[in-house]
Amino acid sequence: MTRALPLTAHLTDVGPLVYGCMALGGDWGGSPISEADIAQAHAAVEAALDIGVRLFDHADIYRRGKAEAVFGELLRRDAGLRSRIRLQSKCGIRFADDANVGRYDLSAAYIEHSVDGILKRLDIERLDILLLHRPDALMEPAEIAHAFGRLKAAGKVGHLGVSNMHAGQMRWLQTALAEPLVANQLELSLAKLDAIDVGTTFNDPQAASRPVAAAWAGTLEYAQQHGVQLQAWGSLAQGRFNDPAASAAAKVVHEIAEAHRTTANAVLLAWLLRHPAGIQPVIGSGNAERIRACGDATRILLSREDWYRLYVAARGQALP
Ligand SMILES: NC(=O)c1ccc[n+]([C@@H]2O[C@H](COP(=O)([O-])OP(=O)(O)OC[C@H]3O[C@@H](n4cnc5c(N)ncnc54)[C@H](OP(=O)(O)O)[C@@H]3O)[C@@H](O)[C@H]2O)c1
Repeated sequence: MTRALPLTAHLTDVGPLVYGCMALGGDWGGSPISEADIAQAHAAVEAALDIGVRLFDHADIYRRGKAEAVFGELLRRDAGLRSRIRLQSKCGIRFADDANVGRYDLSAAYIEHSVDGILKRLDIERLDILLLHRPDALMEPAEIAHAFGRLKAAGKVGHLGVSNMHAGQMRWLQTALAEPLVANQLELSLAKLDAIDVGTTFNDPQAASRPVAAAWAGTLEYAQQHGVQLQAWGSLAQGRFNDPAASAAAKVVHEIAEAHRTTANAVLLAWLLRHPAGIQPVIGSGNAERIRACGDATRILLSREDWYRLYVAARGQALP
């Protein structure tokens, strides 16, 4: 078992890009992790380290635990790795089984049970950041605060954050927590614009034809005001802009990529990085070559004009 360095204030030492480990660990079924899975994970993690990634994002459910387990194997094989990185994982989603439907569970008992599993699979003593994966309709802030307090006191978790939660939910949880929420991981990309649209199009006469989830109102602003690090999952839009002929928006992405002598993926990430909230894109490719090419994003500063050109192209209609 290897020891972690403590995080400094919030997430200040982790850099602009996060690597998401959902593509590691083989299939989503029950087959054991193979040497080929370990080699793929090793190549992906090395590529991420090469482009400056220091924070690696997990969830207890990724590949049904095998993403964390294969990462644990990498940590065992490279004794120096743990001290160079920060590890984040999530809990709260429970898959359906013979007896139960799929559900969310942010009860104290399940949070504590989940963290023990995460630590075991990653083979670490302390998780740097625990995210509550999705809002649980039955969640109670005081119960969550109690569980986090016990985990923190036991040295098992450094910081608490959330995922897929809007401003009202962050504010509500924070009323019970003794420490600040450090991160919120949302789906945000040129293919998923709700959190940005809600701030720009609230009085759009055409909004009825393009409804925006009003619940996202104020989420980006809350995070900036309270120092909650925003992380964008789906940051590569799951490859949807890969083909310039696929859509008008993809064509614009590729034109801007060409002007910057880079890839479409780097433009997608640069678009997120240009936002003043300091959004950290979470890169989910399992392909080492594609991961390395993402490094360009930190060297590109999009102009306001290009940022809006991409935004409007992705919306598919002019701003009001
Ligand atoms: N908090 C949450 O609820 C939540 C939900 C989902 C994911 N996440 C986290 O966010 C990370 C990223 O999310 P994500 O995987 O949904 O999104 P993503 O990074 O946008 O997409 C990754 C997927 O897109 C493919 N892709 C990317 N660029 C491509 C290209 N140019 N051509 C073809 N395929 C391309 C990748 O294939 P290759 O592997 O072949 O490159 C991979 O399957 C995950 O690893 C996970 O850590 C969080």
